[in-house]
Amino acid sequence: MQSSTKWIQSFIYLTLITISLNLLHILLLSDRLIISHHKITLKKHPDLPLRFNSDGTFKILQVADMHYGTGLTRCRDVLSSEFDSCSDLNTTRFLKRMIEAEKPDFIAFTGDNIFGSSTNDAAESLFKAFGPAMDSGLPWAAVLGNHDQESTMTREELMSFISLMDYSLSQPNPLIQDPTDPTKQQIMTEIDGFGNYDLSVWGPPGYQSANQTVFNLFFLDSGDRAVVDGFRTYGWIKESQLNWLRGASKGHNQENHQSQEIPSLAFFHIPIPEIRSGPFREVFGEYREHVACSIVNSGVLKTLVSMGDVKAAFIGHDHLNDFCGNLNGVWFCYGGGFGYHGYGRAGWSRRGRVILAQLKKGKNEWLGVETIKTWKRLDDENLTKFDQQILWTSS
Ligand SMILES: *[C@@H]1O[C@H](CO)[C@@H](O)[C@H](O)[C@H]1NC(C)=O
Ligand SMILES: *[C@@H]1O[C@H](CO)[C@@H](O)[C@H](O)[C@H]1NC(C)=O
Ligand SMILES: *[C@@H]1O[C@H](CO)[C@@H](O)[C@H](O)[C@H]1NC(C)=O
Repeated sequence: MQSSTKWIQSFIYLTLITISLNLLHILLLSDRLIISHHKITLKKHPDLPLRFNSDGTFKILQVADMHYGTGLTRCRDVLSSEFDSCSDLNTTRFLKRMIEAEKPDFIAFTGDNIFGSSTNDAAESLFKAFGPAMDSGLPWAAVLGNHDQESTMTREELMSFISLMDYSLSQPNPLIQDPTDPTKQQIMTEIDGFGNYDLSVWGPPGYQSANQTVFNLFFLDSGDRAVVDGFRTYGWIKESQLNWLRGASKGHNQENHQSQEIPSLAFFHIPIPEIRSGPFREVFGEYREHVACSIVNSGVLKTLVSMGDVKAAFIGHDHLNDFCGNLNGVWFCYGGGFGYHGYGRAGWSRRGRVILAQLKKGKNEWLGVETIKTWKRLDDENLTKFDQQILWTSS
C-alpha cells in the first residue's frame, strides 16, 4: 500500500514538473505564440548607457518621413522610368545603405515612420519600417508624426509597441519615481502626447567622463492634427511637455558636477511656427516648400532659448525642405524626405541626415562636447554626401 501511494505521488510530481517545463518552454523559448505572423521573442536590449566612442565621437543618423506602407506600396514622385521597380523596399534599401556607409552610433526616426492609411496592419508595417535598424543591432529611437496612427494602432499603442521592439530606446513617456515605492519607476501620465522622453549619452569607456552624462537627446511628441477655433491645423508641443522638458534639462544640468552646461539636441516631427515666419539668422540647404506648421504657437522656441542647452532641433514633416535654419541661436534642421511612399519631387533624390558630436580632447581625458556637425546623403549611386556644416562649437 505505502509503496504504491509513494509511486502515485512520484508519478503526479513528475507529471507536474513535465507540464511546468513544457509551459516554460512554450512561453519563453518556442516560436509558437504568433501575432500577425511575427514571432514573439524577448526584446533584445542595446548596451546602456549610450556612450561616446573612444575617439570622442558620437554619430546619429536622422531618418525623417519613411511613410512606410506594407512593403510593397508603390513609390510616389519618382521618374516614370523608375516607377515600375520602386516600392517601400527602396526605403528599406536606402536605410540599410545609410547604416552601412555611416556606421552611426544611434538612429533617430523623426515621425511619419509608417503611413497608416496605406496599411491595414500597423505592427507589420512597423516591423518592416524599423527592420534595418533592428537587424543592425544599433540603438535607435522614434517619435511619431501625424500619419503613424492612421492604421490599426492609437498613438499610445504605437509608442508602447515601438518601445518593445529590438534595440529600441523609445519610451511611451518619461519615467518618474513611483510615489508609493521609491525603488520603482512608472510612466508619467500628467503629460500630453506619447513619445516624450530623454536619453543621455555618457563619456567614452575608460575615461573619467565615462560615468557622466556629456550629451542629451530630447524626444517630443508634436501631435497630429487639431481643430482650433474652427480651423483645421496641425498638432503642437503642449505646455505640459515644455514643463517636463525644462525640468529634465535642469535636472541634468544640476547632476553635472563640472557645472558646465550639457549640450543637447531635440527631435520632433512638426515644425514650429517660427520656422515659417522667421527671421532666420542663417539658412543652409534647400527651402523648397511652404512650412506646414500649427497655427498655435506654444512657445517652443522661447523655451529652448531660455533653457540654453538645446543647440539644435531635428524635424521632418515637410519632405521638400532639407535646410538647417538658425532662429535666435537655436538651429532647426529638416531631415529631408527619406521614404519613397512619401511625397517628394521626381528627379530630386530622397535623402537622410547625419549628426556628429565630437568631444574636446584634454590631457589624458575627454572633456565636454566641443563641436556638433551635420551633413546629408542622397539616395543615389554614390550616396553623395553634401551640405556639411558646423552647427555649434563650445568656444
Ligand atoms: C528601387 O530598387 C530597385 C531594386 O533594388 C532598383 O532597381 C531601383 O532603381 C530603385 N529605384 C529607385 C527610385 O531608387
Ligand atoms: C565609473 O563607475 C564604475 C562603477 O561605479 C567604477 O568601477 C569606475 O571606476 C568608474 N570610472 C571612473 C573613471 O571613475
Ligand atoms: C559616382 O561616382 C563615380 C566614380 O567617382 C562617378 O563616375 C559617377 O558619376 C558618380 N555618380 C553620381 C550619380 O554622382
